[in-house]
Amino acid sequence: MSTPATTTHVPVVIVGAGPSGLLLGQLLHKSGIENIILEQRSPDYVLSRIRAGVLEQVAVEMLEKAGAAERMHAEGLPHEGIELLYFGKRHRIDLKALTGGKQVMVYGQTEVTRDLMDVRAAAGLTTVYEALNVQPFDFLEGEKPRVRYEKDGQTHEITCDFIAGCDGFHGVCRASAPADKIKTFEKVYPFGWLGLLSDTPPVSEELIYASSERGFALCSQRSLSRSRYYLQVPLTDKVEDWSDEAFWEELKRRVDPETAAKLVTGPSIEKSIAPLRSFVTEPMRFGRMFLAGDAAHIVPPTGAKGLNLAASDVGYLWQGLVDFYQNKSEAGIDSYSEKALRRIWKAEHFSWWMTMLMHDFAEDGGFNAKMQEAELHYIFTSENGARVLAENYVGLPM
Ligand code: APR
Ligand code: PHB
Repeated sequence: MSTPATTTHVPVVIVGAGPSGLLLGQLLHKSGIENIILEQRSPDYVLSRIRAGVLEQVAVEMLEKAGAAERMHAEGLPHEGIELLYFGKRHRIDLKALTGGKQVMVYGQTEVTRDLMDVRAAAGLTTVYEALNVQPFDFLEGEKPRVRYEKDGQTHEITCDFIAGCDGFHGVCRASAPADKIKTFEKVYPFGWLGLLSDTPPVSEELIYASSERGFALCSQRSLSRSRYYLQVPLTDKVEDWSDEAFWEELKRRVDPETAAKLVTGPSIEKSIAPLRSFVTEPMRFGRMFLAGDAAHIVPPTGAKGLNLAASDVGYLWQGLVDFYQNKSEAGIDSYSEKALRRIWKAEHFSWWMTMLMHDFAEDGGFNAKMQEAELHYIFTSENGARVLAENYVGLPM
């Protein structure tokens, strides 16, 4: 890399302007800690990614603290229950009754990102979009990490106190950690989710997680007029192989007749296939660089935990950095990785468990199907069984 055209100093450099980076930036700003975000893509590209849309109370509170919760409270849909469909019969899990009054907020991640972008822009904070070849340096030892990047053909360098790697699963920060200091844990599932977004009213007021002999399906929603549906598909399927008509027909076959009859179909606005993966990095701190969100962990979407875990990581990191700058204490940043990982592993377990519980694993000779039957029967007949699901679904405390 050539000599930098500019060198500046900013206390915290955040890599990545997804929900993790934007939320951290806003919370730090509220606490008087200056930060800059470097994002390799354009704002439009960031907003074009369609992801899950279920927020735990912890995530809702974090958005409130960031001053980015107004539209969510106006337009988001609080949900007090979910339904599990098994062998053609729907069973309601009363989240609110089972958890002493807790619920979840249905509000798309794209909207969360847009709201965070808007408050950041309104506060006049710097986000460098289309920052190329972002590279962290000198973070492992000492107190003077640096980040270099290229923009419009020029190299820039920022010296800082801390680097926050909020750059997602494919980011540069985790990849820059020394191989002998990082351990990863991974499980890849033998199927993907084909998702379809459409401007049609949701088939049901509440989300339906459907287990069927033809595979898993999920009936979700973004608003009262926009639906999101998913089908479990083999990893070999290509999105081009699935016409909208084929999608709707298959969805109808995987739900109960009453739901199928109510389903309003329409043209897709977006359709994509995502593989399912469980992945965790340990630790989440490398000297003066921290990882947060998808940069450090991935969950299969079945438990809707991805964005919620990103929010709790950011919450812990924010507290740690506030401790450092305002209280001159390193206790918060020293315990960040351990605290975050304790919560992450619980959500990893729940997401894995929900995935095993609801999907078709035909190739295992039927053993998993029997485990599902036993577990689901327990959930449907025991309040304690249902409560375990409900407590995890609404989110464990931070
Ligand atoms: N340099 C700069 N930016 C980068 C780089 C890089 N080398 N690599 C990736 N990025 C950017 C991506 O373009 C993206 O905008 O980092 C951002 C990471 O955002 P996300 O992938 O959305 O990750 P995160 O903010 O942690 O959000 C977690 O996303 O996948 C879902 O379920 C997950 O809801 C959760 C949320
Ligand atoms: C979604 O609406 O995209 C969604 C909802 C719940 C999940 C996963 C995805 O568990």
